[in-house]
Amino acid sequence: MSFVIQNTGLLLQQNFINGVWCDAQSKRTVPVINPATGDVYVNVPDSDDVDAKAAVDAAAEAFKTWKKVPAKQRATILKRWNDLILENAQDLGKIISSEQGKPLAEGVGEVAYAASYVEWFAEEATRSNGEIIPSPAVGRRMAAYKEPVGVIAAITPWNFPAAMIARKIAPALAAGCTVVCKPAAETPLTSLALVKLAELAGVPSGVLNIVVTSKSKEVADVWLDDSRVRKITFTGSTPVGKHLARESADTLKKLSLELGGNAPFIVFDDAVLDDAVDGLMAAKFRNGGQTCVCPNRIYVQDGVYEQFIEKLTARVSALVVGPATNPASQIGPMINVKAIDKIESHVADAVERGARITTGGKRIQSAQCVGPTYYAPTVLVDVDKASKCFHEETFGPVAPITKFATESEVLEWANDSPFGLASYFYTTDLRRVTRVAEALECGIVGINEGAIAAEAAPFGGVKDSGYGREGSTHGLEEYMHVKYTCQGGLD
Ligand code: SIN
Repeated sequence: MSFVIQNTGLLLQQNFINGVWCDAQSKRTVPVINPATGDVYVNVPDSDDVDAKAAVDAAAEAFKTWKKVPAKQRATILKRWNDLILENAQDLGKIISSEQGKPLAEGVGEVAYAASYVEWFAEEATRSNGEIIPSPAVGRRMAAYKEPVGVIAAITPWNFPAAMIARKIAPALAAGCTVVCKPAAETPLTSLALVKLAELAGVPSGVLNIVVTSKSKEVADVWLDDSRVRKITFTGSTPVGKHLARESADTLKKLSLELGGNAPFIVFDDAVLDDAVDGLMAAKFRNGGQTCVCPNRIYVQDGVYEQFIEKLTARVSALVVGPATNPASQIGPMINVKAIDKIESHVADAVERGARITTGGKRIQSAQCVGPTYYAPTVLVDVDKASKCFHEETFGPVAPITKFATESEVLEWANDSPFGLASYFYTTDLRRVTRVAEALECGIVGINEGAIAAEAAPFGGVKDSGYGREGSTHGLEEYMHVKYTCQGGLD
């Protein structure tokens, strides 16, 4: 069974360049696979360097006029886009769930999350104020203006096909930039639907262009080499992020890189355990564990270790695994078989090093879960800190736990990672809250909270998790530069 989409006009299978829906110039296509079954869902363009360049040509030309459109008018268009996204939330949620696999409630939830960024940046567009600077000399006036940086290349991942593209495109358009974007080959349909709604909202031709491809490097290379592209915004793996940083050096582009994470989740003896379990369930099992901010290393203090494991195991073993089309499903299929292989290898490695499985620990195939991409939600305990699952993103529904004794010990472990995206901890000691939040080396800290992302908050990391922030006022700054003017002769 698959979902019925009411607004069939949202099911697009073409690029959108310079206001025209078009095939790849080569006419090549690539299939989008239903992760629940492995079957081909639809075919989309397999674009190449020719299409990538056409998109930049359009965006560069459109920038000449879009940058002059008053912020209020840009805000009005973005607000219309937000309204259209919300009006089509059910259909968009179904498209997300069909191509990405997450349960429908999460798919529809992601649409609201995506729209929240569009609404936020519509409002921020009109507040990108500059500064009047007191002059140190008589007869001069000094000011700092904010200007859009130019053409933006947005490269987005498959795990949140709506939210990741919305939180890149919305601030870019709000700032007065134009956009070329490339969604993940696994999940292009959501992005195409969002771009269609942006077109209907009144985004002018050439301002927003989208190119679908399985040849990510070929398309990205065109954008990296083209000096008209002034910024790249990317969410994805650290190796690709580093490649983009290296290769954009020649044209000195601005960069926002939201890269891998390896989030610690710390439960102190004085935590409210039920809250900590709730927080871990929300943070770890959202999107089946396929998020960059998922707890990857769970450290529980020795006084509450057994009790926490017991409570968590009960909750995890009750999770319902199944396709997005089943309203009861809480964990959908993983994105592909490669993802399942990685999860399996991480679990096997931890077990070889002495970990115990209290629930899960295996693939699932059943009348409900027909495809090869289902993995049982898993709790691993007594995990050796050298295990792969403590060092690499598992990107699956696996909660690996180990015991700690002291605050200083756990802080050392938490910071002993090249990554620094999110961290979480649970405690009722107020002094510890400040101490630990300040000591953690990361961009985002959840304190007695597992659901941390919000449009009004700055999302991003430090160290190998990248740089730049999405959401909040900082998210708009990323798409602007400052021009200083000094006017003399006024005395
Ligand atoms: C991500 O996994 O990259 C994003 C997660 C979020 O926005 O919460």
